[in-house]
Amino acid sequence: MYYQYDVIVVGAGGSGLFAALSAARQGVSVAVISKLYPTRSHTGTAQGGIAAALGNLEEDHPIWHAYDTVKGSDYLADQDVVETLANEAVEAVVELEHMGLPFNRTEDGKINQRRFGGHTRNFGEAPVKRAAFAADRTGHMILQTLYQQCIKHNVSFYDEFQVMDVLINEDGVMTGVVAYEIATGELHIFHAKATVFATGGWGRVWEITSNAHTLTGDGPAVAWRRGVPLEDMEFFQFHPTGIYKLGILITEAVRGEGGILINDKGERFMEKYAPHAKDLASRDVVSRAIYLEIRAGRGIGGKKYVYLDARHLGAEVIEKRLPDIADFCRTYLGVDPVTQPMPVQPTAHYAMGGIPTNVNGEIVIDRQNTPLPGFFAVGENACVSVHGANRLGTNSLVDLVVFGRRGGAAAARFAKANDFAEMPKETWEPVRTMLDDLLAESGEENAADIRKEMQEIMFANVGVFRTEELITGAVEKVKELRERFNHITIQDRGKRFNTDLLEMWELKNLLDVAYVTASSALARKESRGAQAREDYPKRDDVNFLQHTLAYLEPDDSVRLDYKPVVITQFEPKERVY
Ligand code: FUM
Repeated sequence: MYYQYDVIVVGAGGSGLFAALSAARQGVSVAVISKLYPTRSHTGTAQGGIAAALGNLEEDHPIWHAYDTVKGSDYLADQDVVETLANEAVEAVVELEHMGLPFNRTEDGKINQRRFGGHTRNFGEAPVKRAAFAADRTGHMILQTLYQQCIKHNVSFYDEFQVMDVLINEDGVMTGVVAYEIATGELHIFHAKATVFATGGWGRVWEITSNAHTLTGDGPAVAWRRGVPLEDMEFFQFHPTGIYKLGILITEAVRGEGGILINDKGERFMEKYAPHAKDLASRDVVSRAIYLEIRAGRGIGGKKYVYLDARHLGAEVIEKRLPDIADFCRTYLGVDPVTQPMPVQPTAHYAMGGIPTNVNGEIVIDRQNTPLPGFFAVGENACVSVHGANRLGTNSLVDLVVFGRRGGAAAARFAKANDFAEMPKETWEPVRTMLDDLLAESGEENAADIRKEMQEIMFANVGVFRTEELITGAVEKVKELRERFNHITIQDRGKRFNTDLLEMWELKNLLDVAYVTASSALARKESRGAQAREDYPKRDDVNFLQHTLAYLEPDDSVRLDYKPVVITQFEPKERVY
């Protein structure tokens, strides 16, 4: 089938839905294409809160939020866009409230707020309550609220459609996408004036992750194969508190409410690593501290986890403000956080890097920030870059809504100002050939083995701590796996709900983003935020205060370029918590 819309949005998480809503409000026709039913998108698992300097409980200002975000980023964030984030966060949260989002309330009826790591008042003086929240289901509530608004504004939805390729024409203009209908195996062409990618993250590259099975980096991988660079891919966040072995998130709000991390000796070890912020230091700092405790033999029972202890918070706080995590612990571990500490380990959680964009979500393709006309990206698959080398907790949801809203509005403006551009000569044919090749292959390999080997090496070698030797090992292994991928045999050769085929294609994407991540990490010979190089333990602002841009070359190698970081008012300095 062939469809035409002014704006199409690929992905139905928080940023995609806000982009769609924001475009639809400008009177253009909008469709959302999503591989999932929208309310199953991963934003729904975001737990602890959304950052905005509302100042409802304690004095707060967007400029303090901006400072904390830049410091948290280890000075790699672009400060002009961070200012936009902090300033527009307040309005965005109030807008969500007006749409009906059921935030927790203070006794006098204001939106309640709580503490999260790295968020402070007065430029680092003391922690501040900045995270607005709906119990520990904040993302779930955002998703439901935005989906209802999209329906109200007549956005069309194509659920369980997987976007497989982008249609960039001979003039370098984005004209739409090719999508695979999961129920039927048919290919569809979506012709659009403006296309917004909002496909989320790629935590499934790593063995232990908080991310759903669906987070396979589809958007970045598809764009990269068509010549778009990927920015700062070496920076992937490990959230300190995933459930041991499972990786499922235990929200940082547990520590925001007063929970503490303890080692095998019962010591509150964060006092040693971050004397002021302690358990509420930024995530890169806390994850490293947990690894160091484990390495020193102070993991619980000598194993690879520590305890997150919330017992002293009492049953009422846990049941009322952290009900979901209590439920997860009881269900998956048989552990009741009211009476028992929770076993936790760092879990691959969030991509700071992604498809490079400007403040309006326009995709930019070089160090001069040249836009690719008609192509936008928002949310976790984009790198605008407000998170730099390390994101602060609760800054993801606010990134989704602030830049989702901006990106959607900019896409609608573009659509109003331009006609439908001519599509490239070939539209669905390359995808059909690729799928037929995958279906025809009868080699010795299978997707599950390749995925497992990739996840293990990436977790061990391109995880919380890295060295040249480890990363080189990962690059070589991922190259080998990409080669073996060409010899996978598929079991299901049918058309209807062929999840075998889909998972194989998702693996292709995972391998590509893993390749770019490891290649970018290898070249960055410094430690900054989430990239902790034990062979280069210091941050190196002389050589690396810049963003990585990774391009795919015709010989299948990765070419790296760099572009400067935008500094406005916060000069880089040593980061201590
Ligand atoms: O810990 C959390 O609730 C996660 C929040 C976030 O990643 O922003």
